[in-house]
Amino acid sequence: MAIALVLLVIVVGSVLFHLVTPWWTTPLASNWKQMDDTLTITLAVTGFFFVVINLFVVYTVWRYRHREGQRAAYEPESKRLERWLIGLTTVGIIGLLAPGLAVYADYVRPPADALQLEIVGQQWQWRYRLPGASGKLGGSDARFVSAVNPLGLDPADPAGQDNIVILGNEVHLPLGRPIKVLLRSHDVLHDFFVPPFRARMNIVPGQVSTFWFTPTQPGRYESLCAQLCGVGHPNMRGFVVVEDEATFQAWLKQQPTFATTLAAVAAPSTGARAGADALAEQGRSLAQTKGCVACHTVDGSPGVGPTWKGLFGKTETMADGSTALVDDAYVKAFIRNPQARAVKGYAQIMPKIDLTDDELAALTSYIRSNGSASIDKAQR
Ligand code: CUA
Repeated sequence: MAIALVLLVIVVGSVLFHLVTPWWTTPLASNWKQMDDTLTITLAVTGFFFVVINLFVVYTVWRYRHREGQRAAYEPESKRLERWLIGLTTVGIIGLLAPGLAVYADYVRPPADALQLEIVGQQWQWRYRLPGASGKLGGSDARFVSAVNPLGLDPADPAGQDNIVILGNEVHLPLGRPIKVLLRSHDVLHDFFVPPFRARMNIVPGQVSTFWFTPTQPGRYESLCAQLCGVGHPNMRGFVVVEDEATFQAWLKQQPTFATTLAAVAAPSTGARAGADALAEQGRSLAQTKGCVACHTVDGSPGVGPTWKGLFGKTETMADGSTALVDDAYVKAFIRNPQARAVKGYAQIMPKIDLTDDELAALTSYIRSNGSASIDKAQR
């Protein structure tokens, strides 16, 4: 009898908890209300079976409880009951799957006039590409990937020249326009997810996956990676800013095109920066493309690895108790062979990253540009 009562309390409690739950989805900011609807259908179908099956168990436990002299009836087979159970289960499973199939068919078939947005996932950051005035995205290939061309756009493809490549974690989108998302990964399985859009898709290396949505509410929404993709996975976050068409166009105009980026690299003197600055700038880009920023912050906040703010000139304590002054030689040696020594308080998980001597110099220069401990102390 006690078990019947406990089950009854669980059933009533679960239904009540669902009705007055403090946890609910974030407000919808896209056209995909169907995602919420299918979720409601799933909850209704599974909830119905949960309640019916458990109440049936409660009833049988009570009805057929032990009583003196009562004997069990043996009924191994009931064709009629089996037909009912198969029929009900079939209807339940169709109810669970069919609406989702219909919504998914919509979800991967974007309207013809949709604005294309390419999103490239890489351990552990997002990059984006939008078409320029021509409205087309140029071709890309892994063999074109380099520090200055992290998305691997084909430099010979005329359609790619006016493409807008966004190397930061934030992209802007116009309000009320359908967006066709093209997803690529440079390394492992990622998943682009913006909860208020109810939109997400796995990013499988070697293929382009696609879905679409229309942002319906202006705002700044956090995007995140929804597949465990390595130690920096929790850092793989970004932002999608939804704004009116005019503000979006103004923002788009400020972004460099692929062609201007290539030209600036080919003739660095055209940039206003002089020697050391340009080197540090190249290092900043490398820190992004090589994924360093997933573990090392530049604002002093803690990360998987030591922050680069004020790192130079600091005396680091190693796991074995020895100390070392952080200078050019220390940083370069550490990047070249991260497993050689362990800094106290940090797991020895830094991967060895292929860098040319020039790239190593640029990266070191960038790390140094984030301030040195001795200067910070002098200022205090
Ligand atoms: Cu990318 Cu998790």
